[in-house]
Amino acid sequence: MSIFQTKIDTVNEILSYPVVFNANFASVGEGSEHQNQQQTNNVFTEKWSKYDDNEEQAKENLYAFQRDWYLKLYGFESEEEFAQFLQDKPVILDAGCGLGYKAAWFAKLAPNSLVIGMDFSDAAKQAAEIYKDVPNLLFMRGDIASTPFQAGSIAYVSCDQVIMHTENPDKTFSELCRICEPEVGQFACYFYAKKALPRELVDDYFRTACKDLSSEQLWGLSEQLTTLGKTLSELDVKFDCPDIPVLGIKGGEYDIQRFLYWNFLKCFWNKELGQETSVATNFDWYSPSNARRFNIQEVNVLAKDNHMIMAFIQSEEACHSGRFVRQ
Ligand SMILES: C[S@@+](CC[C@H](N)C(=O)[O-])C[C@H]1O[C@@H](n2cnc3c(N)ncnc32)[C@H](O)[C@@H]1O
Repeated sequence: MSIFQTKIDTVNEILSYPVVFNANFASVGEGSEHQNQQQTNNVFTEKWSKYDDNEEQAKENLYAFQRDWYLKLYGFESEEEFAQFLQDKPVILDAGCGLGYKAAWFAKLAPNSLVIGMDFSDAAKQAAEIYKDVPNLLFMRGDIASTPFQAGSIAYVSCDQVIMHTENPDKTFSELCRICEPEVGQFACYFYAKKALPRELVDDYFRTACKDLSSEQLWGLSEQLTTLGKTLSELDVKFDCPDIPVLGIKGGEYDIQRFLYWNFLKCFWNKELGQETSVATNFDWYSPSNARRFNIQEVNVLAKDNHMIMAFIQSEEACHSGRFVRQ
């Protein structure tokens, strides 16, 4: 019997139709009928397969940064508090798990729970290979907007930095609410925030234009934007900007790289995360065709329409994030 059999039995109990696992992996959907979703899947397949080739230390730096940010995004004071929260969650879904490092973190913090990582790109298969020795962690390839899970069967659904890349984020949100256990279960979700008007316009223009670029050109663009971000950051210039409400530009003291970044053009650079991760972050932004942004009112409406109450919500410049409970 494989080390995953007990957990596969648990999954089978909460599925609406039978699914065949090969060791820790099952596919419930390959390819999307929607052109933009398929393009989004393709670029994430490309991104994750390239990213996994990076040095272990560079990857671990990103994962550590992401874990810390996750705690802040969803209102956990510490990893211990988060681990405590997970203890009574028998089934946890990492919806849009990418390379699966967050799912693996959940599995480590909640060793008695079953964690399922699901992604529509080939990263799901790659993650299954990377974490093939973790007995309480399974991976599925499929669309999180149309899952095989029964209503109310998942005690914690985490959808971190994903929903805006799905074909119809409202539909995806409803599906993840549907599978979340009512009253006691929680659904954590991250939404890209709408930014200043010039940045929104440039982003939309870029995203349309990027559809016609080859993968090589997209990586080239991502490297050029990283160089720009690094150069501006190294200038180390600070200045005061007035409030420009019509354009949504907030006044105050800015570093020149941050000013351009938040208001005009995503040119990500982070010295601690290094070159490869910064390039991958820029690639992540401009390559997928699907990348909707939300204001906080839209998040509130989505929650209300799905009968979700907010256990926690926060907004920062990049995003809104919250934990929701189904009434
Ligand atoms: C920015 S990455 C975030 C990955 C991971 N949650 C993390 O925080 O590192 C977005 C992921 O969402 C996945 N994705 C996009 N649309 C999806 C869909 N409809 N169903 C499942 N996964 C999807 C992409 O393949 C990609 O791996």
